[in-house]
Amino acid sequence: MESFKQFREMVYSFRVSRVIFSALDLDLFNMMGQREWAIPQLAKRLKVSSRGLHILCRNLASVGLLVPTLGRYRTSAMVNRYLQKESVDYRGDYLGLMQRQWEEWSRLTEVVKTGIPVDSQEPETPEYRRSFTWAMHHRSLEPAEQIAKQIPIKSARSFLDLGGGPGTYALAFIPNNPKLLATVMDRPAALEVAQTLAKQLSVESRLLFQTGNFIDDNISGKYDIVWYSNVLHIYSPSENLKVFRKIRRALKPGGRLLIQDTFLQNPKGLRPLETNLFAVTMLLYTDTGNTYPIQEVRRWLHQAGLNRTRVIRLKPGTGDWEGQILEARPPVSS
Ligand SMILES: C[S@@+](CC[C@H](N)C(=O)[O-])C[C@H]1O[C@@H](n2cnc3c(N)ncnc32)[C@H](O)[C@@H]1O
Repeated sequence: MESFKQFREMVYSFRVSRVIFSALDLDLFNMMGQREWAIPQLAKRLKVSSRGLHILCRNLASVGLLVPTLGRYRTSAMVNRYLQKESVDYRGDYLGLMQRQWEEWSRLTEVVKTGIPVDSQEPETPEYRRSFTWAMHHRSLEPAEQIAKQIPIKSARSFLDLGGGPGTYALAFIPNNPKLLATVMDRPAALEVAQTLAKQLSVESRLLFQTGNFIDDNISGKYDIVWYSNVLHIYSPSENLKVFRKIRRALKPGGRLLIQDTFLQNPKGLRPLETNLFAVTMLLYTDTGNTYPIQEVRRWLHQAGLNRTRVIRLKPGTGDWEGQILEARPPVSS
């Protein structure tokens, strides 16, 4: 960053997020539907002030979420596709998760002081887990489809989606691999969402469920592929090492572990910025989570007896995060 102006703009960029969250708080996009609205009518419908709504809508139009036409507004193609509830590509649950984080990020100073996550006093409820799991599904849909097409697992018969939540990845690998039987291991409320999705996609017979906590419990069964996506960052190095040892025991001969996560790329741990910001999310919501350089994760894998590692690079612009999957296998002799 070279100038104070750039610095000021970066600091103040939270305003755009806040404008969007207020639109979501008001359910503005769904209320507008496909119609064109004059501000006074829309203000009446939403029961808000015309002045407030006008300024809000002008800003939403500035960032391309509304389209102004002769003093009226309609929703943009992006909003119609991703933020209207009736769209097949609706991603509102994921946006809802970000919206709920607004208050919690405001408590960051307190969390930095104490090191204790924001929700430490509130035991997790099944409602929270279900809504988080739907958000994960909305987040992972696109990358899962892209990744399942790019990672060949044709010879695999058994696939474990460990911490699979809604099972979005297992469900994406199933159609590309007709002989695959997939299992999702997660908490009961998360598996309810996976069950609903399997039913919607008519693949109930090809998706199994294992309820459990893979930190405290053993992983049942033997698998050709263990898929560990967006879980590594929830845990400390020693907890991940413990999980890798369990995965090693759960792999069939010739089996492999595939890890998807966001990894620090720069030797000083400063890049990508998104990976560092994600560590802040882990500070806010988990007891021990963080983000790590890929070399460090490889070291834990070696310690766990998964010493044949390589990075699979995805096509540019595809996949979650930086488009790389870390693969790990046991030594050839085992
Ligand atoms: C961030 S979500 C990732 C979901 C999915 N793998 C994806 O990439 O979209 C992490 C998931 O891991 C599950 N999880 C975390 N720790 C777990 C544990 N110890 N036992 C079982 N599930 C766990 C959570 O319930 C959640 O569904």
